Amino acid sequence: MKGLRIEGIAVESGGKEIVKNASLSVLPAHITALVGPNGSGKSTLLSALLGHPAYKITGGSCFLDGEDISSFPTHKKARAGLFLSLQHIPAISGVKLSHFLYKAHKAAGGESSPQEFGETLKHLAQEYAMDESFFNRDMGGEFSGGERKMSEALQMLILKPKYALLDEIDSGVDAVSLSKILRIISFLRGQGTGFLLVTHYENFLKRLSPDHIYEISHGIITQR
Ligand SMILES: Nc1ncnc2c1ncn2[C@@H]1O[C@H](COP(=O)(O)OP(=O)(O)OP(=O)(O)O)[C@@H](O)[C@H]1O
Ligand SMILES: [Mg+2]
Repeated sequence: MKGLRIEGIAVESGGKEIVKNASLSVLPAHITALVGPNGSGKSTLLSALLGHPAYKITGGSCFLDGEDISSFPTHKKARAGLFLSLQHIPAISGVKLSHFLYKAHKAAGGESSPQEFGETLKHLAQEYAMDESFFNRDMGGEFSGGERKMSEALQMLILKPKYALLDEIDSGVDAVSLSKILRIISFLRGQGTGFLLVTHYENFLKRLSPDHIYEISHGIITQR
């Protein structure tokens, strides 16, 4: 059965149960939103689903298109088609964005040569009205918070995941960049990607018109 299905997931960190019995699903080409106050467990759930070592899944299962991926290591989950954009994106010093994207392209089974991939990036720069020099920048301290979110959206565009978990990809992003990120989400949705999206902003939700909205409070999820 197609879809990302989370069934009764419980997550613990620092000896505390943060997410309790969470169940939700994300269908291909659909958007599921997860909203809730600060500290309610949104990032904990998303990070735990991809196997962040600070979080321990203590119960429940996660199915991707019918396959139980609960026990997969992070790289296997990514290869199965799961993508996570973190709320706080770590800086990676000494790595150019273009190199990172090319590695992602190859890891996802892409067959472009470096030259062909360079052309792809040129087209992307044109399509999204970006300066080509953006791709030549270091992923360390050089990127501002908003630029880092844009670089995540570009990675997602290159990887074309089956299901993308986006943790506040809109926060700290200016209006022009936000429109570009929305275009990337809409494009991928049109290609079949399903989204689980965390945001604090109703306006962002409105522009995406999610198919389902879940609310989380004190680690407990309910459907809105
Ligand atoms: N590594 C950790 N160790 C202990 N407690 C943690 C850890 N990470 C998060 N928590 C706690 O879990 C709760 C939920 O945090 P989480 O980051 O998931 O919230 P959130 O819903 O994403 O909030 P925000 O909207 O502010 O991003 C908070 O009380 C936080 O202090
Ligand atoms: Mg968070």
